Amino acid sequence: MSASSNEPEETRPARKLRFEIFRYDPARPGVEPHLDRFELEEQPYMTLYIALNRIREEQDPSLQFDFACRSAVCGSCGMMINGRPGLACSTLTAKLPDEIRLHPLPAFKLVGDLSVDTGTWFRGMAEQVEAWVHERAPFDPEAPEERMDDDLAQAIYEGERCIECGCCVAGCGVANVRPTFVGPAGLNRIARFALDPRDARGEDEWFELVAHEDGVFGCLGLMACHDVCPKELPLLDQYAYLRRKVLGAGRSDLLQIGGSEGDSA
Ligand code: SF4
Ligand code: SF4
Ligand code: FES
Repeated sequence: MSASSNEPEETRPARKLRFEIFRYDPARPGVEPHLDRFELEEQPYMTLYIALNRIREEQDPSLQFDFACRSAVCGSCGMMINGRPGLACSTLTAKLPDEIRLHPLPAFKLVGDLSVDTGTWFRGMAEQVEAWVHERAPFDPEAPEERMDDDLAQAIYEGERCIECGCCVAGCGVANVRPTFVGPAGLNRIARFALDPRDARGEDEWFELVAHEDGVFGCLGLMACHDVCPKELPLLDQYAYLRRKVLGAGRSDLLQIGGSEGDSA
């Protein structure tokens, strides 16, 4: 049966969902990576998170996957869903075909089965791009609050909406083959701080941070990250801003190298 029926979910005949789930536990290297099959009767408004919990409760208590908030906020439940990165908790099985294949996100260290360690990657990226406000002067609790233009505050907030799920990194071919590339989430993080007038880093420092193959020149502009971000962050706008910043630093000659021609940003 097609998953795209317009009939209300509660009146549709239940489908039998067939899952193929990647299994490997690095703590048990003697057991080769393989796919396990499970079947489950679909329920109305079932998410992949609910389906995985049912499989774990009813069929295989050893199945590993991550979740915390169940509402697309914590970023824990990213996985490859029929080859595309997405959040298990916000993916309705009704949007998927009867056959559902699940793999862990690539580019991150595997914890086991569908569980990956995104935390170490994001911490490393945050240290690499120095993802904190570099202040001009020591904090003065008596100083009056500095005003910020509403539109600028909104633009900074857009970058802050990242939940560090790792879907964009998993979908980025460059991030998958070059671990030193800061990836789409890293470029977004740099843009967030570069926009912030409280950050005292000068043009040369921003230039050093982004104007190389591990920064904005590593990006091929094919938009996979933009397409899979579950929070719909304006990633390509962020890259465009960083490229304009490089131009502003008077080094536009460098934009001619680094495979950046296909970037629509
Ligand atoms: S647009 Fe750039 S950062 Fe995004 S997936 Fe493509 S190469 Fe990676
Ligand atoms: S930019 Fe989007 S896809 Fe990437 S880590 Fe943040 S929320 Fe997830
Ligand atoms: S469980 Fe938190 S984002 Fe899915």
